[in-house]
Amino acid sequence: MPRPAYPDSSEALSLNSGYAFPGIFPDLTEAANRALTTYRSESLQYGRPFGLPPLREWIAEYMKEDGCTVTADEIIVVNGAKNGLDLLCRLLTEEGDVIVVTAPMYFTAIPIFKSFGLTFIEIGQDDEGMDVEALDRALRERVNQGLPLPKFIYEVPDFHNPTGITLSRRRREALVALATRFGIAIFEDSPYRMLRYEGKSEPSLKALDAHGVVFEVGSFSKLLAPGLRVGWIAGPRALLERIARLKSDGGTCPLTQRIVFEFCTAGELRAHIERARAAYAQHRDLTVAALRRELPEASFAVPHGGYYLWVKFPPGVDTEIMTERAFRGGVSVIAGVSFYAGEAAHADPETAPTRYIRIAYSRATPEEIEDGIQRLAEAYHSMI
Ligand SMILES: Cc1ncc(COP(=O)(O)O)c(C=O)c1O
Repeated sequence: MPRPAYPDSSEALSLNSGYAFPGIFPDLTEAANRALTTYRSESLQYGRPFGLPPLREWIAEYMKEDGCTVTADEIIVVNGAKNGLDLLCRLLTEEGDVIVVTAPMYFTAIPIFKSFGLTFIEIGQDDEGMDVEALDRALRERVNQGLPLPKFIYEVPDFHNPTGITLSRRRREALVALATRFGIAIFEDSPYRMLRYEGKSEPSLKALDAHGVVFEVGSFSKLLAPGLRVGWIAGPRALLERIARLKSDGGTCPLTQRIVFEFCTAGELRAHIERARAAYAQHRDLTVAALRRELPEASFAVPHGGYYLWVKFPPGVDTEIMTERAFRGGVSVIAGVSFYAGEAAHADPETAPTRYIRIAYSRATPEEIEDGIQRLAEAYHSMI
């Protein structure tokens, strides 16, 4: 098959973003029709600061099915998870505060956290996820030195972005116990949780939380479609009251909330999630097979769900240069350096950010994945 030329690099084939695969977007026309007829006066009016009451009930039920003890009163609807993170930072932090993040971490959260003047304690990860023992040591050291404790721990426990790793059960329990002992909030950001392709789910951090330290930041972006901009925060009611006052939009869009609610209660969500799982599992498998064939020098752990592969190259390869060459060659992936909030990982040549790239296999078609990995391999081979 002739390869598309992608002569203009702005048209580079994208393996770079956590965009959804357009082929599995849900058909929301029925739900939108009901929102604009039966619920017209509600959908087109100003919304409520906490969100649409039946949607909050639905979210509480959805979380209960996932093992959490939560009521609709403990849910506030927001404009997606990123907006949730932003609001939580506004609520809980002051300029100069310290927070805990993983190294590497979800790179879009970095500028959000930096915009609040926060500084970072970076904690490494292994195949069980965040190294909770290292975090324990870091916190004890701060206490010994009389330094203030971090305001929160930010974690993506399921199919982490960018590593694809899922936090083990033992580490989940240790993390929640540690946060409870030190009195530090956890922001659990787990938008890929339902996109598991094999194996069994571990309980969410929120489900393990008996003392109200975990804020779950939820999202319909990966469950349904990111363009809807509907997500939620689950946490203690008293703090949500303050978040409601910080919500300068006066309330998330009632029209999209109603559309989400109508779709979910029409019983279509489960079938949609199954379709999404099947499509993304296929994308993952194709990416893994193409990488093994075209780039046997690269190493990676195969994620059991989510959108991403975190790929490591041999020592001496600078992935910043490689991704630039790949881009000129028509494929866009993101260099590892973009995923670190600070400098902690840079010291160790074994885990140097310049040895990694993130491949997002979610958005591209199967043909684009094949083509993209070939172009990536060409960029790599031009470097050695
Ligand atoms: C870890 C993580 N959190 C949040 C989001 C985005 O959430 P939202 O679209 O709800 O703002 C993403 C999307 O890429 C993500 O990977």
